[in-house]
Amino acid sequence: MNEEQSQKSNKARALRPDNDEFKAWIGSQWAEPDDLESTAMASASFAAERRAALSARFPGKRIVVPAGDLKVRSNDTDYRFSPDRDFAYLTGLGTDREPGAVLILEPTATGHDATLYLVPPAGKDDDGFYTDPRTGEFWIGRRPGLEEFAAMTGIATAPLADLPSGLRLSAHPHKPVRRALSEMRLVKDEWEVQQLRDAVDATIAGFERVVGELPRAIAHKRGERVVEATFDGHAREEGNAVGYETIAASGAHATTLHWITNHGQVREGDLLLLDAGVEVESLYTADITRTMPVTGEFSDVQRRVYGVVLEAADAAFAAARPGATFRDVHEAAMDVIEARLREWGIVPEAEHEESKLFRRWMVHSTSHHLGLDVHDCAQAKRELYMDGPLEPGMVFTIEPGLYFKADDLAVPAELRGIGVRIEDDVLVTEDGVENLSAALPREPDAVEAWMRQHRRA
Ligand code: GLY
Ligand code: MN
Ligand code: MN
Repeated sequence: MNEEQSQKSNKARALRPDNDEFKAWIGSQWAEPDDLESTAMASASFAAERRAALSARFPGKRIVVPAGDLKVRSNDTDYRFSPDRDFAYLTGLGTDREPGAVLILEPTATGHDATLYLVPPAGKDDDGFYTDPRTGEFWIGRRPGLEEFAAMTGIATAPLADLPSGLRLSAHPHKPVRRALSEMRLVKDEWEVQQLRDAVDATIAGFERVVGELPRAIAHKRGERVVEATFDGHAREEGNAVGYETIAASGAHATTLHWITNHGQVREGDLLLLDAGVEVESLYTADITRTMPVTGEFSDVQRRVYGVVLEAADAAFAAARPGATFRDVHEAAMDVIEARLREWGIVPEAEHEESKLFRRWMVHSTSHHLGLDVHDCAQAKRELYMDGPLEPGMVFTIEPGLYFKADDLAVPAELRGIGVRIEDDVLVTEDGVENLSAALPREPDAVEAWMRQHRRA
């Protein structure tokens, strides 16, 4: 629905006084705000360096990067705004800033001049401040004005109305700009790494809270929702939101890779696969998975499957270092999975080696870049992503898994309905990787001990 339609649909229930006396009265007797933003955000100098790097890649070209617009959720109700991630990267703005904004880098003789075009907040002399549910202070609270945004970002600001209409229509940056940004975003700067550390730490605390709520989840008819709601509530309390829809998958649901329906029971004796990430206010997100026994103790067969996934993850960790590629990391994990599944005698002989029949039980990749997007840098060239050499400052996941579906007749019955994924977030260092999520136990005995520690009676 466009804005005009949504305003029309509101008319049927509008009762607000619409007379000059009311307008003058509601616009008067307001104190000046005492919370004006006057200092640069910690991200501002880093964002300036990113703009300079982008500028150097596109000399003489105008670059347009819109934040995006509000998206209708239903009728006249919008989703909470979340800016385009390239816009966030280049401005340092996070949370819900700023619907409709457009960043323009205008070419100059030496580089580019940046201007941030924004919808100015309605003044008290403008009835929008109490009539406009999308921008009015009465509806959404005080928003920073143009001067404040300039102080916060270090970027010159201008009213959106001044943006030439041709540019306003470019809803998306050009593909080459998207690709360049994706490639720039492969290596994180120091500020980004700290944001990711914070996201990981908040996520670990969320996993601990979920363990605390497991007795309630077991007792509830939709225990997976208890898990989801616990984690998602934590994400809202401690960060901006979840970085993606929480996967709270118990029992055979764990074999569905992106199980987000989360309406199942959490049963004693089953495993619970929790894949979740807190996105902090700057929009950087963690992406962590732990698979834990609902009762707090793995059964023998669960432990056996878990052990293979852990061994695969360890092999991926060992392969991850500067100069290696994503492909090397993935293959290190896959070699372990293949070898163990062959030992179990469940991989049939293939006609062709490249058939890789064992991948029936692990169909996803072992790693993806992580940052402002949970699947970060997706527009980067394959030569820089899958086949690109790892460099210090890159952050990615290591997340092998094994998934034996409940109706999989190709495996022994005891394996059916078991899904295990172990997902950690790592930072490439000078000589290897640092596991940013190391504080969350991975070894099965340590997982059990951790559950005893955090489970409420
Ligand atoms: N949570 C989605 C993923 O692990 O990639
Ligand atoms: Mn994940
Ligand atoms: Mn992931």
